[in-house]
Formats: sequence, C-alpha cells, structure tokens
Amino acid sequence: MKVYIETMGCQMNKSDTERMLGMLSHFGYEETKTQENADLLIVNTCSIRQLSEDKAFSQLGVWGKWKKNKNIKIGITGCVAQQKARQVFSRAPYVDFVLGTHKIYSLPDVIKRIEKGERVCECEETNLATANEKGYPINRVKSTNAWINITEGCNNFCTYCIVPYTRGRERSRLPEVIIKEVKDALADGFKEITLLGQNVDSYGKDFKDKTYRLADLLKEVNALEGNFRIRFVTSYPTDITDELIETARDLDKVCEYFHIPMQSGSSRVLKAMNRRYDRETYAKIVEKVRKMIPDVTITSDFIAGFPGETEEEFVETLTAIDEFELDYSNVAAYSPREKTVAAKWVDKFIPEDVKDERFQRLNLKVQENCLKSNLKYVGREMEVLIENFYEHKGKMINTGKTRNFKTVHIPCDEDLTGQFVNVKISGAKTWYLKGVLRT
Ligand code: SAH
Ligand code: SF4
Ligand code: F3S
Repeated sequence: MKVYIETMGCQMNKSDTERMLGMLSHFGYEETKTQENADLLIVNTCSIRQLSEDKAFSQLGVWGKWKKNKNIKIGITGCVAQQKARQVFSRAPYVDFVLGTHKIYSLPDVIKRIEKGERVCECEETNLATANEKGYPINRVKSTNAWINITEGCNNFCTYCIVPYTRGRERSRLPEVIIKEVKDALADGFKEITLLGQNVDSYGKDFKDKTYRLADLLKEVNALEGNFRIRFVTSYPTDITDELIETARDLDKVCEYFHIPMQSGSSRVLKAMNRRYDRETYAKIVEKVRKMIPDVTITSDFIAGFPGETEEEFVETLTAIDEFELDYSNVAAYSPREKTVAAKWVDKFIPEDVKDERFQRLNLKVQENCLKSNLKYVGREMEVLIENFYEHKGKMINTGKTRNFKTVHIPCDEDLTGQFVNVKISGAKTWYLKGVLRT
C-alpha cells in the first residue's frame, strides 16, 4: 500500500508528517511522492490564515473527484482537522477520516478502522505531550537538519491567532524522550538539531516535579558527542531569560540565531494583540541579545493591517524593523480566524486594499534590511554547513547556512552536502551571500 501526504503550514506540521509516515511505514504503508499512484491520500493542514484553510479544502476536492473511479482512501489531519472536526464531513463527504493534532498517535488505529469501511473522526483534545507517544519510528526528511518538537500547543492567546485552538494548551515533552530523539537523529547523520515549539523559551514551565527549562535542555543536547549545530525556534520575547541568552552564548554548538516575533511596532497594537510587551520592552530584549552574542541574527514576524491599525501605527512597524536592525522577518496580512477575539472586531477591520498596500510596503522594508544585514558580512570568513548541491546557470553550486542562519552560495564542482566548510564571503544579495571555499 502506498501513502501520499501533502503537508501545508509550519514546521510543526512537517514534523507531524514525519511521525505519521513513521507510523504508517511500521504498518506496511510505503511513502509515494506521486499522488496518482497512492492508495491513501492525506492532507496535513494549516489554518493560520483563511487562505491556508481554503487550500486544504481545494486539495480534498481534487482527490474527492478521483474517488469516483479509483479505490482510494482520503484523510485530513493537522490544524484545520482539529478545528473543524466532524464539520469536514459535510463540506467534503468523500473524506474517510479526520484526525486532529492531539490524536496523531491514533493514526494506526484509524487506518485499521477505515480499511473496514468505517468513517472516523478523532479530534478530542488531550493534555498529554509524550505520555501517549508509542515509540514509533520517525521517517525524517533526508536533509542536514532534524526538527525535534519540544513543546506542543500554546497558552498565549494572542487575539489574532488560532494556534491555541488547534494545538491546545502548552505541553512540554519529557527531556529524556527529546534526548533520545536527538541521539537517534545524530546517529542517522543529521548535522543540525532544531528544537521546535510555538514558544520554546517557555519549555518546562508545566513540569510539576522538576525545574528543567530550555537552558537545561540546551546544555544536555550540547554535551552529546559529535560535530553538530543546535538551533531553537520560536522564542516569545518576554520569555527570553538572561540565563537562556548566556547559555546560548556559552555553548559551542548553539548557533547565533534568535527568532523573536514582534508582530507590530506599535505599543497600542501590541496591547490589542494581547502580546505581553510593548515596543520599549522588545527593544531592550533585542539590545540585550545583540550585546551578549556577537554577530547574532535576529529574525521576526509581523502582521500588517491588524484591526484598528492606523497608518501611523503601521509606520511604527516599519521603523521598528530599521531601529532594531531585524535581519529578516516573515510578514503576513491580517486574516480573521474563527473563535479568535480580534475576528469579532469587524467594525475595525482594515479594507483589503489598504491591508495589501501595507503588506507590500512591509515586504519592501524586509528586503531592504535583509540586504543591509547581508552586506555586513562581505569580506568575512564564516563556517557553512552545506545543505544542497545543484546546477545553476551551467555551474555547480553548493548552498548552505552559516551558524547565524545566513544562506551562502558557493561555486564548487564537488558535492559537499553534510560537510562543514570555511568560506570567504565575496558578495551579498538580498536573500543570500556569495562565498568562496577556503582551502
Ligand atoms: N508562536 C509564534 C507564532 C506562530 S504563528 C509567535 O508567538 O510569534 C506564525 C505567524 O503567523 C505569527 O508570528 C504571525 O505573524 C502569523 N499569524 C498568526 N495568526 C495570523 C492571522 N490571523 N493573520 C495573519 N497572520 C497571522
Ligand atoms: Fe499564536 Fe501568540 Fe501562541 Fe504565537 S504566542 S502561537 S502568535 S497565540
Ligand atoms: Fe502551524 Fe498552521 Fe497549525 S502555522 S501550528 S500548521 S495553524
């Protein structure tokens, strides 16, 4: 039997897909990259914006048509599944199962049931993180970097965000379970470990029987043998403690990189978003990280056109990117999400054309700063972990990342994937650096 999984959304979903493929392979399903020859088709969905949700249903629609002449099973997992549960069946009646984010470990059981012709919806919330994991293998995507989730869910309830509704309350996975996964990934040849969570810096707050936080986990991972790098994303600004910054600075394998979403440059908007900091507090955090960690790359996320955002407040976002020298930012136009607080502020919604225009200006600002940030490294020598090797305009190039998360393109005929190389930075473009191998 062959399974095809279409993965949408964030790294959390990509990580869940690797777990689902692991479970399915254990039960005799082989992964196929071709939808047309799959017996089981799964869309692992994201619901962060309306567009992501619509994409999920249009994918299901395509497969639904195939079902008329083909003996296939169709499933939906991920954030839209968790949020819509049984409602999926009325919108997409050809779906065989709906499996929420809390229940991915029920997948083998769900498959057995649909094979018998049952239609299944498993979407109950759980408060467990690792307790319901059953030690199935994980089919990680072949690459240099292994993503290892350390927390599930989120307690912050930012007024625009659906994640607390689709991923539930924050649960930290047990250190010993994480360490085992890290060891397995290193034994499989991964050269970089990224610890993953909606707010990695609140890791361990929910442990009742021990004081064990992200800094402790970083120390334990860092002590493992081997030449590899450690990253962690995403950091909630006010959960970044001095201890965490010091630990990141002092541990040799932990890279000089923080992803600290700010969301808006305006203190008034931040309050309306229910973010627990203002512009000044964010500024202080970034300043501290920069002072303590030389060459650190700090990236962020911003939303354009949050309900009630004035032109002046939007401009504060643009000036924040400049003032805090944010090296790169993900940007999005605000999209109202079911159940969230801000979605009810219809009278304050920003017209689509204004939102779009702000989104474009935000993009231009991000590009401008990204180039500015890259130019700082021209002439420097940096260590690059090679991730890819391919032909570009008739020349072979290796591409990879520096410790501080800059992408570098290096012309070289030899495939160096998986190797750490020293490179002299010879030029800078908006999205990448150009480098020459040092011998
Ligand atoms: N936990 C992270 C963010 C996870 S969601 C944090 O707190 O920063 C990823 C990004 O999606 C967010 O940072 C935000 O910028 C964006 N986002 C979330 N909800 C959104 C919405 N309703 N409309 C537009 N963008 C949104
Ligand atoms: Fe969403 Fe806010 Fe939680 Fe991030 S911290 S996942 S933006 S609710
Ligand atoms: Fe991720 Fe989208 Fe869910 S961003 S947590 S897959 S809503």
